[in-house]
Amino acid sequence: MKYETIHNLQIPKIGFGCWTIGGHKTPDPVLDVPSLAALRSALDLGYTHFDTAEDYAAGHSEELLGQAIRLSGTAREALFITSKVHGTHLRYDAVLRACEGSLRHLGMDYIDLYLIHWPSKRMKLEETFRALNKLVADGKVKYLGVSNFDLKLLKESQAASATAILTNQVPYSLADRTYDRNGVLAYCQANDILLTAYSPVKRRSIKSSKIRAIAAAKGITPQQIALAWLVQQPRVITIPMSFNPQHQAENMAAVDVELTAEELAQLAGQ
Ligand SMILES: NC(=O)c1ccc[n+]([C@@H]2O[C@H](COP(=O)([O-])OP(=O)(O)OC[C@H]3O[C@@H](n4cnc5c(N)ncnc54)[C@H](OP(=O)(O)O)[C@@H]3O)[C@@H](O)[C@H]2O)c1
Repeated sequence: MKYETIHNLQIPKIGFGCWTIGGHKTPDPVLDVPSLAALRSALDLGYTHFDTAEDYAAGHSEELLGQAIRLSGTAREALFITSKVHGTHLRYDAVLRACEGSLRHLGMDYIDLYLIHWPSKRMKLEETFRALNKLVADGKVKYLGVSNFDLKLLKESQAASATAILTNQVPYSLADRTYDRNGVLAYCQANDILLTAYSPVKRRSIKSSKIRAIAAAKGITPQQIALAWLVQQPRVITIPMSFNPQHQAENMAAVDVELTAEELAQLAGQ
């Protein structure tokens, strides 16, 4: 694995996303066995950064993640766990309650990285960050971040946070350059903030014939091209999700794929 070193932390360039682990908006018991198996194979392959949220399967994704980690015997300190507070829980007391809920679901006594999942029109960032700052001071959360924040909100978050904003988690892929075009990527790179790219390999991201041609020439998959393109960029990390152990392994291996200047030029307009 390769890492981004930031604020004396080493964060893996490629982590594991937990959306659809245990269900979608609500728990789906049919998914328990495949979800635990997917998490177990990810842990066995050496994934150490897991991204979940109180919103994923209404907390059941967090429950299964905690369960899988305990069953695997992996030491808590060897892992980096991200979770998120929902955009409807951004009042002071609601943030504290949401974090307690996530810790209970995970069966852990701290979360490494806690994000505001989505901005809400009604949120008062100063009030939200008063609660988030308290969670850090109390040791329940190690680092803070945001998700789906534009440049203005990202800067406001920096001003309201007592500690450095570690990441802005946003959609970013070969097919979706919104957060490059809107200036967030360049700002993160210039200000020691990680851009965590979500939905990196969704079908839309890999369907162009150019991507497929480069992948075929290198003897790898289009998904690996999509991930390599992301992690070759400074301050960018990503969190693909897969139930399939072979895909999980291929995704990890993408960190070692080198795209040439010529290949990068071909991908620039994709
Ligand atoms: N902050 C936010 O608002 C937000 C929003 C969306 C997502 N996220 C986070 O980002 C994570 C990743 O995003 P995502 O789940 O939307 O999309 P994604 O990881 O880009 O795509 C997941 C899909 O791609 C397939 N896949 C993964 N690796 C593959 C490979 N090597 N070859 C072929 N197919 C592959 C998976 O199917 P198989 O299971 O068959 O491999 C799955 O259907 C989420 O799990 C979540 O943690 C955050």
